Parts: sequence; structure tokens; C-alpha cells
Amino acid sequence: MEEISKIPQHVSIIMDGNGRWAKARGKVRLEGHKEGVESVRACLEFAVEMKIKYLSLFAFSTENWGRPSDEVQGLWALMLKAIERETKYLIKNRVRVLMLGNLQQLDPDLRLAIEGLMEATAGGQGTTLVVMINYSGKWDIVQAANRFAEENPGKQMLPEDFDRYLITAGVPDPDLLIRTSGEERISNYMLWQTAYTEFYFTDTLWPDFRKKEFRLAIEEYARRDRRFGKVKQNNE
Ligand code: FPP
Repeated sequence: MEEISKIPQHVSIIMDGNGRWAKARGKVRLEGHKEGVESVRACLEFAVEMKIKYLSLFAFSTENWGRPSDEVQGLWALMLKAIERETKYLIKNRVRVLMLGNLQQLDPDLRLAIEGLMEATAGGQGTTLVVMINYSGKWDIVQAANRFAEENPGKQMLPEDFDRYLITAGVPDPDLLIRTSGEERISNYMLWQTAYTEFYFTDTLWPDFRKKEFRLAIEEYARRDRRFGKVKQNNE
């Protein structure tokens, strides 16, 4: 297979379209989420193969609590099942897992499983899988500002200071953000962290987004010319 000239260090994905995938097949929405978990596995395998250092996924937003409670409970149950099913694979493939967001509001069983998974994979030196749950960009900015003010009374804040107080502290900003299902919005995702991120939108629904589609996104990224507000290095 053709080599890709430029591999991003951090790819982030807004996984969208599970409900529409299910509806198109006359299935309930949860079936779409279930198939979506298979896409998570495929994309993680691809990230491991391509040596992508960070793969982050928007798995549950603070706004998602507004969905019918059987869907919300179903999503948490799927996550718990995935943790139980995949821990062995993750350790074997040296994947470190970070699950970030407002974890306080989660069911104690799920929280315990999340903490266990993070501990079990903490030594992973390969890809870091970052799963954003009960997360929103505005929530993150506000909690960071509050914590900074509390710990540094009267001090002026610099952008670098702020990075350290965000829930994503230590994770580099995404180089590439993918959103599936034809929607072209940021939807209160990593608002601060995407200041210079390249965006890639595809009509493919998340349950259909597998290795082939992921490769197309990375190939497109490799063709992009990132200038970070400056002029091009070789002045072309
Ligand atoms: C968006 O599709 C998808 C979600 C809100 C949930 C995504 C979560 C998973 C795939 C499970 C993640 C599991 C692990 C292990 C990380 P939608 O329901 O908004 O689709 P629609 O826009 O077509 O209705």
C-alpha cells in the first residue's frame, strides 16, 4: 500500500451518524451505536498500525444527557462492555487509554471500570486513545478558568498556563479533526484546542467509517499546507 508522506501526531474524531445508519436499516438507534463501537475498534487498529501517537474520540457530550434515557443508558452499557472486551487487546498493543471529561456524574460502576482501564494501560508506550465522555468545550474552558483562579489568586493568565488547566493537559492539540455524517460543525467540542487544527468532513456515517475511510482522511491531511498564521517555509 502507498506510503503516506505526513502522519498527524493527533487525530480527533466527532463520531456522528449512528442514529441515521440504524434508521436507514429499520433498526433502533442503539444498534447504530453498537456498530459504531466496531468502527472505534477499526480506527484504533489503524492508528496503531500507522503509529499515530494520539487518537481522540468524542464519545458522549454533556448535551447527550438530553437524549431518551434508554439510549443514554444503552450508550454507557456499550462503553462498559467495550472496556471489558478490549482491555486485553489494549495492553497487548501498548495502547494507553485516557478517558477525559466530567466523570463525577457517571455511575460508580462505570467510573470504577474507567479508572481500572486507565491504570491498567498507563504504561502503554504506543498510541494514546483519548475518549472524551461527558465532555464539552465550554465546560472545559470554564473549569480550567475556575481552577486557575483558585490556585493563582490575582495572577494574570497566559495561553500556556491555560493549556495546563484544561482536562486535556499533556495531550497535544489535534492536528486533524474528522467529523462524519455530513455535519460540518464543532458542536462544543475541543474549542480551545482546535485553534490551528485541520478539519476533514465526510458524508460517511460513523458505523461505515473504517480503515479505508480513515486512510483517505490521513491522505487528505498529508496534502494540506499548514502555516499556523505564518508564510510558507520555502516561500513558494
Ligand atoms: C453520534 O451519532 C454518536 C454518539 C452520540 C455516540 C458515539 C458513541 C459510540 C460510538 C460508542 C463509543 C464507545 C467507545 C468504546 C468509545 P448520533 O446518534 O448523533 O447519530 P445521528 O446524528 O444520525 O442521530
